[in-house]
Amino acid sequence: MHFRTRAIHVGNARDPQTGAVVPPVHLASTFVQPGAGEWGEFDYSRSGNPTRKNFETTLASLEGGGYALAFSTGMAATTCVTQLLSTGDHILAGADIYGGTYRLLHKIVNRAGIEVTLAPSTDLAKFEAAITPKTKLLWIESPGNPLMSITDIRAVAAIAKQRKILLGMDSSFATPVLTRPLELGADIVMHSVTKYIGGHSDLLGGALVVKDKELRDKLYFIQNATGAVMGPLEAFLASRGLKTLELRVREQSRTAMKLAEWLAQDSRVSRVLYAGLPSHPGHAVAKSQMDGAFGGMLSFEVRGDFAKTKKVCESTKLFQLAVSLGAVESLIEQPASMSHASYDAAARATFGITDGLIRLSVGLEAFEDLRDDLDGALAS
Ligand SMILES: Cc1ncc(COP(=O)(O)O)c(C=O)c1O
Repeated sequence: MHFRTRAIHVGNARDPQTGAVVPPVHLASTFVQPGAGEWGEFDYSRSGNPTRKNFETTLASLEGGGYALAFSTGMAATTCVTQLLSTGDHILAGADIYGGTYRLLHKIVNRAGIEVTLAPSTDLAKFEAAITPKTKLLWIESPGNPLMSITDIRAVAAIAKQRKILLGMDSSFATPVLTRPLELGADIVMHSVTKYIGGHSDLLGGALVVKDKELRDKLYFIQNATGAVMGPLEAFLASRGLKTLELRVREQSRTAMKLAEWLAQDSRVSRVLYAGLPSHPGHAVAKSQMDGAFGGMLSFEVRGDFAKTKKVCESTKLFQLAVSLGAVESLIEQPASMSHASYDAAARATFGITDGLIRLSVGLEAFEDLRDDLDGALAS
């Protein structure tokens, strides 16, 4: 079955008792057991819940098979991956990553005696040179956040395989519609389900998807032991989000492409960061690993300082000033003061998160309305 057919029919079996075409939401926290010390498929909802399982089944299918685990948030899912490691291990992450992941790695994971280094995963030689004998996990994003950098996933996966290091990828921006990292050699895919999968700014969730059963079992053990699982109401909304994911992502990508082209020819804008533009340094790689479109996220730099950039972000009417992304409504933000405020000024300078940078999450509104909205804000 094709992607969008699986999104609707896998993990969404009709209810055998009533014939309801949408599976019921199972809110029960506990399940009757066949006997003392005997276990059915479900016993306690932290360990497993039918509604959560439905969502996991659909998502695993969309990522190309394997096993999915659903979490309370994207950060809970990423934390679970880091808990595979022990004191003395090392994590090497790409330089263009979500600010919350940066904070987790540098302010929480490091407390367990796990060393963390960031290096540009777009530059394979530099990235590989940052691997040490203690490196146990590589962590990348593509497109990266907030600079929309493109990492060659196949190439990084080859390095990881050769050195027997796990490769985890935060694929929240690309979604399985555009990139399926497991098929390109990654070991673990992470999603902030809060973003495109949920798609309507009304749920928090996270997910991990893996191909290897042994790895799945290790992650499941940590998830069950630490407890940050997705709730059934969120799982229901996430399943509903998956059904329209492909349609939304393709349409959002179309509008983002048109906005990127429009911004690129505007003299008030100094730089547009969008992998769909042939001028983007990662365009060719993106084309080879993204399925026919480049996503709904784009960044650009205005000519001006922090205050001018802030003013532009505060002047749009349709683009709402908010962090997060991936929903039907368009959002605008200033990474330096919002999504990446957890980087100090020196780190922002090192990683190219300038004061003039603006990040857009393009929603499902009409291109013309979004363009006019940005035009008005840039003129402000
Ligand atoms: C790329 C990316 N990864 C991970 C996260 C964290 O996800 P959550 O907010 O669901 O914990 C975010 C949230 O903004 C994100 O943008």
